[in-house]
Amino acid sequence: MTALLYLLSGVLFILGLRGLGSPRTARRGNQIAAVGMLVASVVTLVYVFDQARQSDALSVLWWVIILGALIGGAIGAVLALKVQMTSMPELVAAFNGFGGGASALVAFAAIVATGTIVGTDVQYATETEVTVALSIAIGVVTLSGSFVAYGKLKGIITGKPVALPGGPYFNLMLVILMTAASVWAIAFNEPMGYWILAAIAVVLGITGVIPIGGADMPVVISLLNSLSGVAASMAGFVIGNQGLIIAGALVGAAGFILTVQMSEAMNRSIANVLFAGFGTEGAAPIDAGDKPVNSATPEDVAISLAYAQKVIVVPGYGLAVAQAQHAVRELATALEERDVVVEYAIHPVAGRMPGHMNVLLAEADVPYDVLLDLDQSNPKFPHTDVTLVVGANDVVNPSARDDSGSAIYGMPILEVDLAATTVVIKRSLSPGFAGIDNPLFYLPSTMMLFSDAKAALENIHAALIEL
Ligand code: TAP
Repeated sequence: MTALLYLLSGVLFILGLRGLGSPRTARRGNQIAAVGMLVASVVTLVYVFDQARQSDALSVLWWVIILGALIGGAIGAVLALKVQMTSMPELVAAFNGFGGGASALVAFAAIVATGTIVGTDVQYATETEVTVALSIAIGVVTLSGSFVAYGKLKGIITGKPVALPGGPYFNLMLVILMTAASVWAIAFNEPMGYWILAAIAVVLGITGVIPIGGADMPVVISLLNSLSGVAASMAGFVIGNQGLIIAGALVGAAGFILTVQMSEAMNRSIANVLFAGFGTEGAAPIDAGDKPVNSATPEDVAISLAYAQKVIVVPGYGLAVAQAQHAVRELATALEERDVVVEYAIHPVAGRMPGHMNVLLAEADVPYDVLLDLDQSNPKFPHTDVTLVVGANDVVNPSARDDSGSAIYGMPILEVDLAATTVVIKRSLSPGFAGIDNPLFYLPSTMMLFSDAKAALENIHAALIEL
């Protein structure tokens, strides 16, 4: 019965993941997966309760589990309710870290419980001990790595890539040492080996993430998420829990697919993200020299929009910073009332986390059917009167298409420069995440509105009403 119910929760997780594949079904998908997790948790509790009836020691543990679930659940609920949308990657990083740490603890506890550390004769099979070592290694790397990622995103640790002495070879050396510690632990039945393994894994998590630039953290977090799933799955094998094996494997696979997709959308390999020290967030403003810029007022932009037939809005990271999602929706509604067709083009890596723009626009009740992805929007730009770029920069940079020497050459972009007029709302000529200049800003067909995105959209809206 327990195995069947774990299977049921696995099926619910898969249906949930399927729902998450589209913004329209994402909310339902999340709810289905949450029900799956509830089923798995209740089954585990009932199973442990059943065991507890046979032993006093275990009945104490049962209450520990209930208390842990209540306290953990309360903390999780408060965090999820209070978190700002822009801080979501940090929260996910912390959750991943705790997930990895929990898996490592389960593996450790299994070893302790069977007496390898307390010194009884009880012994696991070698393959299970290998699984314990892997679970500890991967779980602890995830724990310390996730907290470095958290620190980088929060600004507690520098977001700049920090070069290590020896570069990636330093980390390779740590992996070799961890393998040696595991072999010592397993082959010589030496519990101290597991402790040394865990200690080196703490260092590897830190030295693995610290050389990576702050803006690449979403990719790193996704990879760590995948690792936390692998660690959970390993822990599932150690304690013979099918639910943990299934859920961990799903997290491992889904996190890895997401990592690959994000890297592809930036035209970079995972190795490049992990080892190239890319990302110069906070780079110095670009000196435009004597390149001319068409600086526009909200009134100028309002006139262009009012007389357009087709407008495509391109949101970027700046929209999230300015929390301008409601302002953009209100402006779009005012334009629609004037029979202007308004759509939104969403780049897969716009913002700082997967689906960042979709979530923001959904919050402002922008209908899903006017959200276009990269492939749908690019053929539309040449037939668009005005593209309204709100706080986006790298994802609309034509250098990625035209300049083979550019750091982002080859990254698929939204070709907004093909529209009749492009309006770019941002505060200055500062670069985006990639730290490079954007020729779009200097095109004769581009109007630059230098302002905070929310204020700019509200001012354009006000000017539109006056027309
Ligand atoms: P960016 O290229 O980072 O540009 C954002 C722009 O927003 C900046 O140039 C900034 O210019 C402007 N901005 C900031 N605050 C603003 C405000 N309050 N009002 C108006 N504008 C504001 O953003 P993007 O085009 O969305 O591209 C995302 C970048 O992040 C890509 O390079 C991508 O590869 C990278 N990245 C994304 C992800 C995911 S999963 N989304 C993961 C890793 C990396 P000013 O300072 O002049 O205002």
